[in-house]
Amino acid sequence: MTPERRDDLLRDAQGILRGNDHGGYTVPTHGLYPYQWNWDAGFSALGWITFDEPRAWTEYRRLLEGQWIGGPQDGFLPSIVFHEPCDTYFPGPEEWRTPKTAPSTTSISQPPVHATMLRWMWQRARDKPRAEAALREILPAIARHHRWWMRTRDPQASGLVTVIHPWETGRDNSPAWDAALERVPRTTRAYARRDLDHVASGERPTPAFYDRVVWLMDYNRACAFDPGLIVRECPFRVVDCAIVFILHRATQDLLALADELAIPIERPPLEDHLARTEAAAPRLWSRSLGQYVDFDLVGGAPIERPTSGGFLSWYAGIRTPTDQLGTLAAWLDETPFALPSTRSSDAAFEPKRYWRGPIWQHMNLLIENGLRKAHHDDLADRIEASSRELFEAGGFHEYHDPISGAGLGGRAFSWTAAVWLWRQAGGGSVG
Ligand code: DGY
Repeated sequence: MTPERRDDLLRDAQGILRGNDHGGYTVPTHGLYPYQWNWDAGFSALGWITFDEPRAWTEYRRLLEGQWIGGPQDGFLPSIVFHEPCDTYFPGPEEWRTPKTAPSTTSISQPPVHATMLRWMWQRARDKPRAEAALREILPAIARHHRWWMRTRDPQASGLVTVIHPWETGRDNSPAWDAALERVPRTTRAYARRDLDHVASGERPTPAFYDRVVWLMDYNRACAFDPGLIVRECPFRVVDCAIVFILHRATQDLLALADELAIPIERPPLEDHLARTEAAAPRLWSRSLGQYVDFDLVGGAPIERPTSGGFLSWYAGIRTPTDQLGTLAAWLDETPFALPSTRSSDAAFEPKRYWRGPIWQHMNLLIENGLRKAHHDDLADRIEASSRELFEAGGFHEYHDPISGAGLGGRAFSWTAAVWLWRQAGGGSVG
C-alpha cells in the first residue's frame, strides 16, 4: 500500500469513528444501528485507543451505564443500550420493555469480549495513569458481568454457558441456529422491520428468522425476564462455541489484568469456571467436520454445521485437535477471500447474507490472534493478508462477500474501521 493510500484510509477510519460518535458512545453505523451495541463497543474502543485515549475509556463508561445492578440479573450487560430515542431501528426500547430505564436496554446479552479488549487497550495505552484509573473503575463491573454469565447461564456448572436468543450470539442468522430455531413459534403479531430501509433484503436475515426472534423477545418479557425460568424453559437454548471461547479467553485476561494492577476481584468463581470449560470443551468437538461446533441443548446433540466460531478455540487457549488446522486450510482454499462465516461448501452457505457466509473483520482479528498465539503463523498470515486486501479496497463495510470481495451491509461501519486502526497501529500482534 502506498503511504498516500494509507493516509487516506487512516483519515477515513478515524472519520468514521468520529462521525459515529454520539457523545461518548459509538453507534455501529447510522440508521441501521443507531444505539450502542455491546460487543461493537469493545471493538470501537480498540479503534479509539489508537488515536484518542480518553475517548476510548469513555466508550466503556457509557456501555456500563446499561449494566443491570442488583436482583437475579445482577451484572447483566445488554446487547443494546438505548441511550437516546431513535425511530430508524426495530425493535427499540418500547418493544423490549425491560425494567431497566435511564438508559433502557434489551434483555439479552452479547459475546463478552471486553476483558480481552481492555487488556489490549491497557497494553497499548500511552497514558498509563489515565488507563489505570479507568480500569479500576471498569474492571470490577466486567468481573460482575462474568459472574452473571457463570451464575445465570450455567446454573448446572457445566462449564458451557447457555445462550437463549440468536441475537445474543452476535452471529444472528448463522445456519448453526436453523434447526434449533425451527422449534420456536413464528410470531403472529404485526411488526415493522426497519433494517430493510437501510440494506438490501438479500444481505439481511429472512422474514421467518425475524418472526422467530421477535417471538423470543416477547417470550423473555412474558417470563418477566426471570433468568432461572428462561434458562430452563426457553425453546431456543444452545451452547454457542464462539461465546464459550470468547468468555474463556476474556476470563483469563480479566484475571491477568486484575493481577497486574492489583485490582481486587473475586477469583474462585472465575477460576473454577475456567477449569470446567476446559474439561467440557471436548463435547463441542465434531469429528465428522474436523472442528469445534455449537451444541443444541434442547435437542441434546452437537450442531453439525461448519461455522467460523469453532476457529476461536486457539484464541481461547483451549486444547484443539490438530485436525482443525487441516479443516481451516481447506476452508481457506475454497474461497478467494477469508474467512467466510459459514464454510462455502456447506449447503446453507450464502455469500451475501449477513452471518450465513460473509466475512467479518472483527472475527478475522480474533481468529488470527489465536492462531498466532498457538504458533500457526502460516494460517494467520493467510487470514491477515485477506483482511488487508478487503480493507484496502476501502469503504469499511459491515461485512464482505468471500467470493467477490464486495463490501456489504451497513457502510462506514465502526468496528470495521476500528479493527483496521488497531491493526495499522500494530495491535494485531498484541498477545
Ligand atoms: C440486528 O438488529 O440485526 C442486530 O444484529 C440485533 O442485535
